[in-house]
Amino acid sequence: MHQLHHGDALAVLPTLDASSVDTIITDPPYNSGGRTASERRNQTAKDKYVSGGSGVEKALEDFTGDNRDQRGFLAWLSLTLGECLRVARPGAHLLVFSDWRQAPVTSDALQVAGWTWQGTLVWHKPIARPRRGGFKANAEYILWGTNGKFDGSREVYLPGVFSASQPRGRQRRHITQKPVDGLLDELVEICPSGGTVLDPFAGSGTTGEAALRSDRSFVGIELSDHYHRIARDRLDEVSSTP
Ligand SMILES: C[S@@+](CC[C@H](N)C(=O)[O-])C[C@H]1O[C@@H](n2cnc3c(N)ncnc32)[C@H](O)[C@@H]1O
Repeated sequence: MHQLHHGDALAVLPTLDASSVDTIITDPPYNSGGRTASERRNQTAKDKYVSGGSGVEKALEDFTGDNRDQRGFLAWLSLTLGECLRVARPGAHLLVFSDWRQAPVTSDALQVAGWTWQGTLVWHKPIARPRRGGFKANAEYILWGTNGKFDGSREVYLPGVFSASQPRGRQRRHITQKPVDGLLDELVEICPSGGTVLDPFAGSGTTGEAALRSDRSFVGIELSDHYHRIARDRLDEVSSTP
């Protein structure tokens, strides 16, 4: 079962029932990159996150909401994660993607919003360009929080490091698409079987695909017309595949 809303997360979240979801897994615009305020304002998400790649990848649609400065990002993400907390049942888990630059401010936002920070998971990306004279940037991070106390009564033991490559070529439908195999399919295991997963920044519907494939329900929100259409078609296809 899935629902996909088209609109701004901060407008749609207040319309969802309180305590109605078991897990939130989300990949918000990172608002990362750009050494100066001017670079941040003037670079699009695509300028920042798509380098190289095939013609298919270069033709992918841009998205908005990635030009906030650090104070704006903290305020906006705190408000959004606060709305998520209202929608989450007590004990629910929150997983928020970030990169190395934005991990500190993302953990601040998570706690300002009232979530209890439980740790940081690592997404290792096996395919990354070497960096002459320095270290490869071949990891992103997933900040983990709970709505109140951590409940350790479920018999699940999940890893803290995930190694998986971003979809490439024709498999790539979004400029910052996350992989299902080896990443989202593992992360959704934090949601009790048959529970509901929410992603307020659904993009191409990756979290939704992982949730539906593992017999969880899914609620998504996506602002862009283009990506809302892609996610809708993708989720309809997954739902109709036995
Ligand atoms: C980092 S991408 C998510 C990509 C997704 N994880 C995937 O695998 O396809 C963030 C998405 O949030 C959407 N977005 C940006 N601002 C938004 C807002 N205020 N409300 C809802 N969605 C928003 C963008 O259009 C973009 O598709």
